Amino acid sequence: MGKNNNIVGWDEYTRSYGGREIRTINPTIQSGSTVLFEHFEDMQLALEGEYPGVDYGTHGLSTQKAFEEAMCEIENGHASYAFPSGISAITNTLMAFTKSGDEILLCDNVYGPTASFCHKILTKYNVKITHIESNIGAEISHYINENTRLIFLESPGSNTFEIQDISAIVKIAKKAGIISIIDNSWATPLFLKPLDLGIDISIQSVTKYICGHSDVLIGCSTVNEKYAAEFAEYFHTVENYANPHDCYQALRGLRTLKVRLEAHQKSAYEVARWLESQEIVDSVIHPGLESHPQHNLWKRDFTGASGLFAFTFKDSYSTETIALFANSLKMFGFGFSWGGFKSLLTARPYKRDGKWVHDGKHLVRLSIGLEDTDDLIADLKNSFTKLQ
Ligand SMILES: Cc1ncc(COP(=O)(O)O)c(C=O)c1O
Repeated sequence: MGKNNNIVGWDEYTRSYGGREIRTINPTIQSGSTVLFEHFEDMQLALEGEYPGVDYGTHGLSTQKAFEEAMCEIENGHASYAFPSGISAITNTLMAFTKSGDEILLCDNVYGPTASFCHKILTKYNVKITHIESNIGAEISHYINENTRLIFLESPGSNTFEIQDISAIVKIAKKAGIISIIDNSWATPLFLKPLDLGIDISIQSVTKYICGHSDVLIGCSTVNEKYAAEFAEYFHTVENYANPHDCYQALRGLRTLKVRLEAHQKSAYEVARWLESQEIVDSVIHPGLESHPQHNLWKRDFTGASGLFAFTFKDSYSTETIALFANSLKMFGFGFSWGGFKSLLTARPYKRDGKWVHDGKHLVRLSIGLEDTDDLIADLKNSFTKLQ
């Protein structure tokens, strides 16, 4: 062995200098696989599954815990778990609470990959998937049978924006002993507190508004006390892992969520109201507008609206004509996801169960970013000329 090969010592790193602790406002990014036990006996406890602390990196270190604790507080939950993406939070939560022979009631407007996971993966394990209307309320009782294990909602749906009657659904679910889960990414826990309304698990694609800069993929599930132990067992067995750098970014995003979300809300309302006044526009589908079919439910449960909504044109334009309009836009990027500082657009027709009146028409979905609202409106106005 040569000399000076001991660069990698095995002393743990301390956070002090000049005899003083180094303190910052934000948590440090603690990254690691091995967690050192203070005493040999602690390691024995860990081997017996009795160690009260974190015994390995996959259980989440201090940065993950800081993020999860902040999420839990804002969701009014019992425990929160970070996942490497929103879809990972969804699929893992569904896995945690289903077994062979169960039936899931899946709202028809859920995020496409959520439905794909149910149909392509859960069915392999003999879980039955039944779609329920996107605007469902107390009628959910018609779908419930002895195998119904959970109800999965997305309100509003992130493409077609129907609202479900959470209180009516929860009342029936609780009576029947069925778990209720909601994808709450559109409103974030700032504008909707699902657990306060009786939902058992609230899921966030933190990727969206909480991170807010389109540069991180991360998800989070927050569970109430009733289902916390079952979820904890799943989580610690599967050893899912969201990396500390992403949790740090997510926690940082959470600090400024309120100001950003209010700016998204204000600008989106202005764009939506302007669209409503345009001759070529048919419907503006935004839960915060009086014209939305479930606006009263939205007003009852939500304290605000984010910046994602859609509109349709009066004419049923072909994809080629929609492309003429879209390609002349300067301010809107074409891309999936939403909730970031840059405005984005998608456009495609949707089919839905329930009272859906836009069949066959392209739904133009806008994620209103943090640009100047007048610039966004001017851009849309200019591009509308391509359709006239
Ligand atoms: C409503 C909704 N839920 C979940 C997801 C998945 O989130 P992620 O992109 O973090 O996997 C998306 C992504 O677009 C979404 O729109």
